[in-house]
Amino acid sequence: MSNDVMTGVANQNDDMLNRLMVALDVDSSDAALQMRDRLGDSVGWLKVGLRLFVAEGPALVRDLNQSHRVFLDLKFHDIPNTVAQAVESAGGLGVNMINVHAGGGSEMLNAAAQAAVAFPDMRLIAVTVLTSDAMPKEQARVVALERAKMAQDAGLDGVVCSVFEAAAIKTACGSDFITVTPGIRWGGQDVQDQKRVADPASAIAGGSDFLVVGRPILHALDPRQAALEALSLMRSA
Ligand code: C5P
Repeated sequence: MSNDVMTGVANQNDDMLNRLMVALDVDSSDAALQMRDRLGDSVGWLKVGLRLFVAEGPALVRDLNQSHRVFLDLKFHDIPNTVAQAVESAGGLGVNMINVHAGGGSEMLNAAAQAAVAFPDMRLIAVTVLTSDAMPKEQARVVALERAKMAQDAGLDGVVCSVFEAAAIKTACGSDFITVTPGIRWGGQDVQDQKRVADPASAIAGGSDFLVVGRPILHALDPRQAALEALSLMRSA
C-alpha cells in the first residue's frame, strides 16, 4: 500500500484493491478463513467486527493479518483509561486500523490517540454517526463534521462516516484525514439496516478513502466476483 493511502489521500491512481475492506461479519474462524481464501487477492483489507472477535478473539485476527491488512472494528466507547488500555491491546495484535466511538468525547479520544502513538503502523479512527442511524442526512452531516473535527483535534487519523459526509469532512479536516465509509450497495441490492447508502463509484468520487462492504460480498453466490465488481465500479469513478 502506498503511504498516500495510509495517510488518507484519495489518489485516483492508487490501486483500489487497497481501498476495499470486506467486513467479515461471520460467526466462526472456519467461516472467516473460508471467506478469506475465497476472496484471496481480490481485496486488500479484512474487517473484523464484534461478532467475529467476540466469538474467536485474537488468534484469528493474527491469522488473518498474515494475508491481509486488518481493520479491527470494535468501536471502543468507555472511560478514557479503559479505552487507552484497549487501544494498547489492539496495537499488540499488529492490526493496521482500529476505531473508537467519537461519542465518547474528547478526553476519551485524546487518551486513545496517546495510546496509539506506540503503534505507528496502526491507524486510529473514530466512528462519527452510524450509517444505520435514522438521523436525517443534513443533521447527520452536521454531527459527523463536529465529531470529525473533535477527532482530528485529539490526534486521530480519520473517521468512519457515510459517503454523504465524506466530502465535507475532507474539506474541513484536509485530504490527509482518512474517511472510511460503510453503507455501500450497488445494482439494486437490498439496503438491509443501512440508511445512508451509496454505490462504490459514488463513494470514491465523494471522497471516501476506504470502502467497507459486508453483506453484498459475503452473501453473494460468488464473493470474489462481487468484490471484483465493486473494484471495477470503484475504478470507474
Ligand atoms: O453488510 P454491510 O455492508 O451493511 O456491513 C457494513 C459493515 O460496516 C458492518 O460490519 C458494520 O458493523 C460496519 N459499520 C457500519 N457503520 C458504521 C461503522 C461500521 O455499518 N458507522
